[in-house]
Amino acid sequence: MHRQIHIAGVAVLLFLGFSVRAGIAESAEDAAGMARTPPMGWYSWNVFRLNINDRLIRAQAAALMESGMRDAGYQYIVIDGGWEGYHDTNGVFHSDPQRFPDMKGLCDYIHSLGLKVGIHTSPGPKTCSGREASYGHERQDAETFASWGMDFVKYDWCSAASVYQPEQMQAAYIKMSQALKSAGRPMLYSLCQYGTQQVWKWGAAVGGQMWRTTSDIQDNYFQMLTIGFGQNGLEKYAGPGHWNDPDMLEIGNRKMNRDEHPTHRRLWGLLAAPRFAGNDLTQMSSATREILTNPGVIALDQDAAGVQGRRVWQEGPVQVWMKPLRDGSAGLGIFNIDKPLNVTLAFKEVGLPETISARDLWLHKDLGKFNHSLALEVPRHGVVLLKVTPISGAPR
Ligand code: GLA
Repeated sequence: MHRQIHIAGVAVLLFLGFSVRAGIAESAEDAAGMARTPPMGWYSWNVFRLNINDRLIRAQAAALMESGMRDAGYQYIVIDGGWEGYHDTNGVFHSDPQRFPDMKGLCDYIHSLGLKVGIHTSPGPKTCSGREASYGHERQDAETFASWGMDFVKYDWCSAASVYQPEQMQAAYIKMSQALKSAGRPMLYSLCQYGTQQVWKWGAAVGGQMWRTTSDIQDNYFQMLTIGFGQNGLEKYAGPGHWNDPDMLEIGNRKMNRDEHPTHRRLWGLLAAPRFAGNDLTQMSSATREILTNPGVIALDQDAAGVQGRRVWQEGPVQVWMKPLRDGSAGLGIFNIDKPLNVTLAFKEVGLPETISARDLWLHKDLGKFNHSLALEVPRHGVVLLKVTPISGAPR
């Protein structure tokens, strides 16, 4: 039996589809056009941890292409922790000679597929896994990354607390930002310090195009939801050129089920979150590929207005999230964290106008015109994702 829930009560926010909000000041990188929409790609960390090498990264890059993910917009192959070797007596950073004997050759190969490539390091002396990192070598490392052909650098706090005071964190991020700028190759700068010190307030000012807002994601529905729903309130800090990053996707990994993976994907879409797959692309099921490449959701998170969605209603197991879009419509996600439910969405209560047309973004299906309310079935741990377009009635 489905339980019944009627959305009624106090509307918490107004429909914003008609007025795209002003974001924080554009950074220099924004002006240069980097990351105008949330960056998309693949990271090695979630599934492979430190067990990576040249062959594996090439195979993932080839799979990104062959699977159609590149054509769907996934662009960056990011080599996370596990590539590091040592700094030599001249201070030059070398990749692990066994696992990554030719980092430039690897970057050339990835570029030859029409993709971009990224790398991970830390402002501390060691990465979180105890590998060599960039402390004291920032300028030289940035030049090395540029000479290899890197397009993206993830800068992960890790052991930096052993050499910096907390109040020196921003200066440490500025140092690498300046080093990257001087290195003469555009490299997207991804901050990773787990959302401490309200990084969303200063991430763009220190030169970041994206910054992690949380600790590491796990392959677990409730932890994923805690991270995703926890982004509410941060929307004013995101926009073209500077994005809140709730961490990589766990879609295609083992522990979430068939309703939970699409929920993860659709929530990240409503959040305009950077979208980095974190699964083994060479072993991907067709269901996983479809979730990752669903064009309706990609259009939602890549919408040119670059507005991060927010929660507009919540009661019991149901949350409604809205993401205003450039054309005056909005993405609307109705989430259910409990048993299957019939939900009646009262437009007034979620800030929608009297009459709307609705399209199921996931199924690519027009649902028609609706006055005042819309009844939906929402599966357990699932979400219905709609595009709603106002037809009449003033926005509330
Ligand atoms: C930290 C980061 C992860 C990953 C690992 C690599 O935990 O938050 O995303 O980069 O380090 O060591």
